[in-house]
Parts: sequence; C-alpha cells; structure tokens
Amino acid sequence: MGEYRKVGTTSDVPPGQKKVFQVAGKDVAVFNAEGKFYALENTCPHAGGPLGEGMFSGTVITCPWHGFQFNVTTGGHVLGRGLKVSCFPIKVQGNDILIEAG
Ligand code: FES
Repeated sequence: MGEYRKVGTTSDVPPGQKKVFQVAGKDVAVFNAEGKFYALENTCPHAGGPLGEGMFSGTVITCPWHGFQFNVTTGGHVLGRGLKVSCFPIKVQGNDILIEAG
C-alpha cells in the first residue's frame, strides 16, 4: 500500500477544471467534477494520449488524440469499449489534495 501524498490545493483545480500532477514518478490527472475530485492516470489506454490535455465536461474527459471519452468517476470508457483508465485514491484534507499513487 502506498501512502497519500499532497499534490496541491483545491484552488489549483477549480470546479470543472483539471490539472496534471507528478506523484511518485507518475503523471496523474486530477479532475474537479462539480466539487468532487478524481485522479486518473494521465495516459489514455487507447494509444497513450495525454488525457489531462483533453476537453473536460461534466464527468467526461475526451482524449485529445483520437477523441475516446472516459468517465472520470470510474475511469471507464463512456461507450463501454472495455478500455479503462487507472484511477488513484484521492482525498481532500482541509484545502490539500492528497493522492495515493504507490
Ligand atoms: S490515444 Fe486516446 S483516443 Fe487514442
């Protein structure tokens, strides 16, 4: 089990926004979907696109490379193609965002 590490504060990722952080040597995309935070691997499972640079709307991130869409709350492909993005445990303590990425 890894430990939670602080990556930033809630003001770094306002509602409807996203930001990529480095955690334990990994690129992790943090999404704020209406005040709830989610952390996904920043690498698209299709061909490695940088998910954190895609369009984010509601709970859906669209990969900037070929347009595959993933639900940030589950990491699952929106159309159920069996592709899944790895998710990381995330929590907010005070104003700090903490992620457990191993
Ligand atoms: S790399 Fe993300 S859709 Fe192709």
